Amino acid sequence: MNTADLMLQKLNNRKHNYSLDREFYIDPDFYKIDLETIWYRDWIFAGHDIEIPEPGNFLTLQIGEYSVMVVRDNNGEFKAYHNTCRHRGSKICLTDKGTGAGKLVCPYHQWTYNMEDGKLVYARGMTPEFNKSEHGLKPVHVEARAGYIWVCIAEEPPDFKEFGALFENYFGPHDLRNTKVAMESTIIENGNWKLVWENNRECYHCRANHPELILTFPEDPAATGVEGMTPDSPMAKHWEYCESLGLPSKFHISEDGQYRFNRTFLLPGAQSYTMDGQPACRMPLNPRATKDIGSMLLFHYPTSWNHGLVDQGVSFRVLPLSPTQTQLTTRWLVHKDAVLGEDYTINRLSEVWIATNNADRRIIQDNAAGIMSPAYKPGPYSVEQESGCIQFVDWYSDTMKTRLGSSKSAAKLRVA
Ligand code: FES
Ligand SMILES: [Fe+2]
Repeated sequence: MNTADLMLQKLNNRKHNYSLDREFYIDPDFYKIDLETIWYRDWIFAGHDIEIPEPGNFLTLQIGEYSVMVVRDNNGEFKAYHNTCRHRGSKICLTDKGTGAGKLVCPYHQWTYNMEDGKLVYARGMTPEFNKSEHGLKPVHVEARAGYIWVCIAEEPPDFKEFGALFENYFGPHDLRNTKVAMESTIIENGNWKLVWENNRECYHCRANHPELILTFPEDPAATGVEGMTPDSPMAKHWEYCESLGLPSKFHISEDGQYRFNRTFLLPGAQSYTMDGQPACRMPLNPRATKDIGSMLLFHYPTSWNHGLVDQGVSFRVLPLSPTQTQLTTRWLVHKDAVLGEDYTINRLSEVWIATNNADRRIIQDNAAGIMSPAYKPGPYSVEQESGCIQFVDWYSDTMKTRLGSSKSAAKLRVA
């Protein structure tokens, strides 16, 4: 039986509300199919507009085997290309972020490409028959909304319009285009990307592991859960209040479960994720926002979860590195005019999530190490406490089954 068929068989036979079989977390062939079936087909969060504010700026990211560069071209537009030269394949942009001089120049033999359309415009020493027009950069789909940039390397990307409009609606009022990245951290988690998500989607582990986060974030699933919501429930009242301020807030989950928007309140008196619950930055992101708007939450599988607060935005980008390694990049955004040392300090802004990320790194590493044992068997999720894990694994399983079931339609799997 080939690996895709084995995977399908395991997904069809899996016990609902249980974690996945061991192979899903450790096996290199299963990982490769995850990449091909999800990561190379879906929209991936690349970074923020404000990270590449000027023409010539670029950022790069690694999606499985693919290096992608996102550039701000000379017209101020975002363009994305595969970061591999059409001469002998060198990477062109060598750093996470940087600035080119109006063109993309390969560092190896200086083949030079337009930022606007990827066309090869200079290649020294080639024969007169050499056709530059056949050696342009390979494009990658790119979309930008409300301060976030998304890329998709599939030849035919999934629809972006619906998600893009919702993102603009929910995150637009947080005015993230008028921010700056005050702090960025990248850590490597020693666990499969799905373990990172399972850990993210529950707060069952918060009490024992996140003393800093639960000072402000409600760990009670009844507070952040939305099942059985009644019009007079505290969450419904919170949405009503925030919407009256012009901040769309109501829970919205996509039909296939891939993404969810939901504004949650924080614990009484808390305005932000700080040790005392007070804002970390004195300058609010949006004048409409008041101290008790809580946090605008978004998860978008497989690559991002986010918080929009009165004083900051916090984005998390998940990228898979290997069957048992995942990269997590966290960025803290504050108003572009906020002054370091006067309006905010890096420590106050980031200490809760730095501590939380570190604890999660340890938890995920221990979880992954335990799963390495052949004695591991899938275990039951707490339906009360881990409904988010159940939802994530259901999304993963349904997505894989649908796509693998029709994967004989290999055209859709083709990368641009
Ligand atoms: S590999 Fe890029 S110019 Fe030679
Ligand atoms: Fe955690």
